[in-house]
Amino acid sequence: MKKIGVFTSGGDAPGMNAAIRAVVRTCFYNNIEPYGIYEGYKGLIAGEIYLLTSKDVGNVIQRGGTFLKSARCKEFHTKKGRQQAYDNIKKHELDGIVAIGGDGTFTGANIFNREFNIPFVGLPGTIDNDLFGTDYTIGYDTALNTVIEAVDKIRDTANSHNRLFLVEVMGRDAGFIALRSGIAVGAEAILIPETQTYINELVAKLESGTKNHKNSMIVIVAEGDDAGGAYEIAEQVKQKCPNYDARVTVLGHIQRGGSPSALDRVLASRLGNAAVDALLANKTNLMIGVVNNQISYTPFSKAIKHHQKLNTDLLDLAEILSY
Ligand code: F6P
Repeated sequence: MKKIGVFTSGGDAPGMNAAIRAVVRTCFYNNIEPYGIYEGYKGLIAGEIYLLTSKDVGNVIQRGGTFLKSARCKEFHTKKGRQQAYDNIKKHELDGIVAIGGDGTFTGANIFNREFNIPFVGLPGTIDNDLFGTDYTIGYDTALNTVIEAVDKIRDTANSHNRLFLVEVMGRDAGFIALRSGIAVGAEAILIPETQTYINELVAKLESGTKNHKNSMIVIVAEGDDAGGAYEIAEQVKQKCPNYDARVTVLGHIQRGGSPSALDRVLASRLGNAAVDALLANKTNLMIGVVNNQISYTPFSKAIKHHQKLNTDLLDLAEILSY
């Protein structure tokens, strides 16, 4: 293996730069030329592929975002787009590709792998943590810390005014961010897409909080919850309990930014290194993750089915501790 391409794709996540750095430095260690592909699949199709130097990845481990930039690419959904991507890989004589991204990135990689014989491995880079085959994805821990910092501040003002706050967090159609951040901030309720939300049950829980003389109440709402977003749920709660002084905060893209946490930097460094090793060992069409602190390999087709991963013990814990 002489040349390896690396790209970031889909929603950016803190720690992506650390992962690129680890891929590049491991390439140099093995006398392989690392090529940066800009803007994910978009750059692969457009031929935005450039040789990286060790200096290019200096002073990036601590930076959020991705210096290779990222995109969501519709063209890669077409056979014509994928053919163009293949032609560019051949043109630049890339012997293997490391894709850093999430569900959409690996869905694309899986299709590409069936059509073309190019060694392709993936690293889980998404704040959503919605990939099977890794305990944590790169960016998840930092996003959790961002949410916690924000909600702690909301708690201060909620307590001062005896208010109910519904805080909407990201996660697409998964509740990992909501569940863990909810436990960490001591939320009174956590609403996630993996479980059915009943407004009557939520209201009963809030009423019992009021009876227990709680000064403030925080409900964490995952953006993909079946009962709707935080604004819709607040409306439904207000209809049943007009006396609640309810407020809504949607945290939004702030959750995607910021300097990666120590956990994310180390995870990204381990995975970036393992990606090059995997390509050298002729592994392909799989995502590399960390399970029980060991590097693990999961076919793309299995990695993108995240739902088996939610820890139901945490759901029970959240329920017990919210009383
Ligand atoms: O996948 C990461 C994520 O931030 C999701 O949590 C969210 O639903 C989505 O991306 C937002 O995407 P965009 O930045 O394209 O609006």
